[in-house]
Formats: sequence, structure tokens, C-alpha cells
Amino acid sequence: MSLPSVNLTERLLEEVQAHRHADYPVSPWILNRWSSRSFSDRAVSDEALHTVLEAARWAPSSSNLQPWRFVVARTREERERFQAFIRPTNRLWTDRAPVLILLASHKLNANGEPNGAHAFDTGAAWGILALQAALLGLSTRAVGGFDREIARRILHVPDDVELHAVVALGYRGEKETLHESFRDREVPNSRRPLADSLIEGAWPDTAP
Ligand SMILES: Cc1cc2nc3c(=O)[nH]c(=O)nc-3n(C[C@H](O)[C@H](O)[C@H](O)COP(=O)(O)O)c2cc1C
Repeated sequence: MSLPSVNLTERLLEEVQAHRHADYPVSPWILNRWSSRSFSDRAVSDEALHTVLEAARWAPSSSNLQPWRFVVARTREERERFQAFIRPTNRLWTDRAPVLILLASHKLNANGEPNGAHAFDTGAAWGILALQAALLGLSTRAVGGFDREIARRILHVPDDVELHAVVALGYRGEKETLHESFRDREVPNSRRPLADSLIEGAWPDTAP
């Protein structure tokens, strides 16, 4: 059997080697992206931020509708606005993130009809955003734990827009800077085997 051609010139990061093992060869960057919580004081340049968002822009979407919207908080005032709706447990680490990005999507197409793929497409954009960030040496972690009603009110979000996740973006910091409850969890996690997610052809017929 010939294995798929994969660019293996890049290496697995040391911290990833101990925790993540692919069942089949994939680019090391797929495994190198992981969601740390610690952030350093290093600022994220406009260029790096826009490169990360540019990557998301090129995600595939149904009929190329690009339903995603990215609400960026960078100034102290903008980040404080976000802190008002992020759940307290998440704030223990997101407060140190230099950039917060709220991922939202338009639920309707241009004719006002429901776009059934808006969430799926925005998830694809998040995946590409996170990978591009990792390629730049930046960390991302998505946060679903926030109050959507408060976010909606504070950010004047229209009714036809759904809020998905806040992404914390920045350069990784020292584990010791984290609240103690997170320090032991500041390592890459793993995945269940591919075989456990794979259905060949159809689910087994369990009808009597
Ligand atoms: C939609 C979404 C919501 C998430 N919400 C939270 C959250 O509220 N708090 C948190 O610490 N991590 C959150 N995470 C991070 C996941 O727990 C993490 O991505 C997952 O464990 C896989 O780890 P990895 O990203 O390091 O590969 C969220 C991730 C996603 C995609």
C-alpha cells in the first residue's frame, strides 16, 4: 500500500510528541495546533492578526456565501466589553489574551432564506484560522462558555446573526502564570482512534 504524500519536513513540537500520535500520517502542523490557555504579554501585530483572519476568509462555504463574521477585541476597552459576557471560569485565563475574536454567522442568505450551512461553514473558518495561527507560532483556544444574550446586547448583534465562540489569540506564556486549576491541564490532549469515528457505508442496521 502506498501512503499518501504528506509534507513531513516540518517537525512535531516537542511538547506534542509525548501526547499526540497520529494513526495515519498527517502534516505535523495538524497535531502541533493545540489549545493552550496561557498567554504571554507579547503583542500580536496587525499583520499577524490579519493573516490569521485572512486564512479564515479562504475557508470553503456553501454557495460561497461566507456567512462568518469576526468581531475583534484588541484595545483594553474592547476586551473589557468581551469580559462582561465570558463566563468567570473562562475569564481566569481569557483575561490575559491580547486578542479576543467573536465568531458569528449570518443565518440567512441574501434573499432572506435560511442558510442551513452557516454554522458548518463558520466552523470550517475557525479550523483554518486556528491552523494559520499555529503556523505563525500563535496560540488559539475557542470559548463556548459565554453569555450569548449579554454579548448580543453589548455588541448590538442583529437577530439574524448567531454567536458561536470567542477565540482567545496570542503568544503562549509560562504555565506558572495560569490559575492553579489550569496548570496541570496545560498539555496537548489526544483523540479517540479514527476507527471509532468511522462508519463504512452506513450505520449498522439494528432494525429487528
Ligand atoms: C466550540 C468550542 C467551544 C469551546 N469552549 C471552551 C470553553 O468554554 N472553555 C475552554 O477552556 N475550552 C473550550 N474549548 C476548547 C476545547 O475544549 C478544545 O478545543 C478541545 O479539548 C480539543 O483540544 P485541542 O483544541 O487542544 O486540540 C472549546 C472548543 C470549541 C471548538
